[in-house]
Amino acid sequence: MDAFVARSLDEIRFWSRIMKEHALFLGLGFRAEDTQLKSEANRFYTIFENIERRSHEYQLDADPNTIKDFNTEVRVAATNIWAFKRMVLGLILQCKLPGGTNFPLLVDHVSREANYFRNRLDELNSGTLEPLPDAIIDENIFFLKIMADHAKFIGHLLDPSERKLVDQAREFSNDFDTLMFQAADLSSMRPQSQTVPLLSQFVDENRVSVKSLRDFKKTARDLIEECRIKSIIHPLLADHVFREAERFLYILDMFDQSLSGIKVNKREILHS
Ligand SMILES: [Fe+2]
Ligand SMILES: [Fe+2]
Repeated sequence: MDAFVARSLDEIRFWSRIMKEHALFLGLGFRAEDTQLKSEANRFYTIFENIERRSHEYQLDADPNTIKDFNTEVRVAATNIWAFKRMVLGLILQCKLPGGTNFPLLVDHVSREANYFRNRLDELNSGTLEPLPDAIIDENIFFLKIMADHAKFIGHLLDPSERKLVDQAREFSNDFDTLMFQAADLSSMRPQSQTVPLLSQFVDENRVSVKSLRDFKKTARDLIEECRIKSIIHPLLADHVFREAERFLYILDMFDQSLSGIKVNKREILHS
């Protein structure tokens, strides 16, 4: 089995569905009169729906060259939706869409996810995936901010009368903001900070918080699904942020496995 094919398909299967849903959420947040923006969002929905379907049709024994071309094509789509999201962010920040319901931070957030997807496809095609010690820090910096943002979105989209849940969401937001700062500190101390014990502690600590946020999102998703709480959270958005937490956990588990597989002196610096 070709690792390049497996990795490419895994990334595209996960992120194309995410991009498709972003198009749906953005479309719902535009005002009724923003027909052009709505139809542009619909167009992206169809594009990523198609990419998602094709990514499931390819098998793991697909020709790596075919997958390379597919990655290139998907990269163009990811770049285009990124540009669309940044354009929309500009309109909102210039108060040109008054009354729309897409938070600026949400639009920025979904553009960062598109950029992440695009970069990953670049790295796969050019064979320049980061070495493990850098990947551990950079993936955590990216995903901790994503998790901190989710907690903020949930807190703001719950009905204000759901005081307990709003408080819990704020606690998660603070927790993840702190973890983000810790990650930035570890990053600034590179490469000296990239020892096996420090990196495994970093991964372990983040994993504990991500697990509890993941469980909170799962509970919220189920409560929304059963209409047991008051909110303006779209049920699909609740599931979407849950899946992104699962993705982060999956990545943390990979890192944990790779770190425990390193048969070097535990104090040895990974970077020479
Ligand atoms: Fe997302
Ligand atoms: Fe997200």
